[in-house]
Amino acid sequence: MIHLSGVSKVYDNGCVALSDITIDIPKGDFLFVVGPSGAGKSTFIKMIFREELPTKGKLIVNGRNVGELQPSEVPYLRRNLGIVFQDYRLLPNKTVYENVAFAMQVIESSHRDIKKRVTHVLDLVGLRHKSGSCPSELSGGEQQRVAIARAIVNNPVVVIADEPTGNLDPETSWEIMKIFARINKGGTTIVMATHDKTVVDAMKKRVIAIEKGKIARDEVKGVYGYED
Ligand SMILES: Nc1ncnc2c1ncn2[C@@H]1O[C@H](COP(=O)(O)OP(=O)(O)OP(=O)(O)O)[C@@H](O)[C@H]1O
Ligand SMILES: [Mg+2]
Repeated sequence: MIHLSGVSKVYDNGCVALSDITIDIPKGDFLFVVGPSGAGKSTFIKMIFREELPTKGKLIVNGRNVGELQPSEVPYLRRNLGIVFQDYRLLPNKTVYENVAFAMQVIESSHRDIKKRVTHVLDLVGLRHKSGSCPSELSGGEQQRVAIARAIVNNPVVVIADEPTGNLDPETSWEIMKIFARINKGGTTIVMATHDKTVVDAMKKRVIAIEKGKIARDEVKGVYGYED
């Protein structure tokens, strides 16, 4: 699903964020990306959805060579990806329903499909009863559940998330992680950068540790491995 071969990322200011990364993430994987602050986790995540381009090496996502995509092709790449951020990034003036429906409107789904699918994903994240609420009327955990509903509404092959539970309390983080686990059970590949030791240790999923821009560990049923 995602293949990196000899990928490096050097930012314009000369900062080497990632160097010579080679990794294979097969379809259906659930991968945690851990490591100290500044290690390169967000850079790794951003390259997958082409927010940042690799400086060197080859990066294939869902059969597309990300480094060689024309700008006009980027929306087609992102159509197959669900992206979840730490700060939710919902549209403040739209309701829960509209926030999720919007992702389907941009790919010109029919009104009927939108209604059916949005209702389904809001059920999946347990928020159908909040359809008419605005983001400001929701708790952080609820807002993140809306963001997840939006990320999965178009049936992406991969969901990538950068510290999705970073702003949430432990109990709410668990609710969110259960939703990700359910999505993964349905066959969707998950790639998640996190500092959440409790979650990583309990989930027993694949873990890669990035340290100073290199992969320091890659474990099948891994642990967080740091004390913070
Ligand atoms: N746009 C940018 N321009 C220049 N340097 C950057 C840029 N973004 C990140 N960096 C640098 O690249 C390195 C990796 O940053 P990155 O954000 O990927 O780390 P991270 O592992 O996500 O850290 P954290 O756990 O704090 O989120 C850091 O040294 C950072 O300062
Ligand atoms: Mg980061």
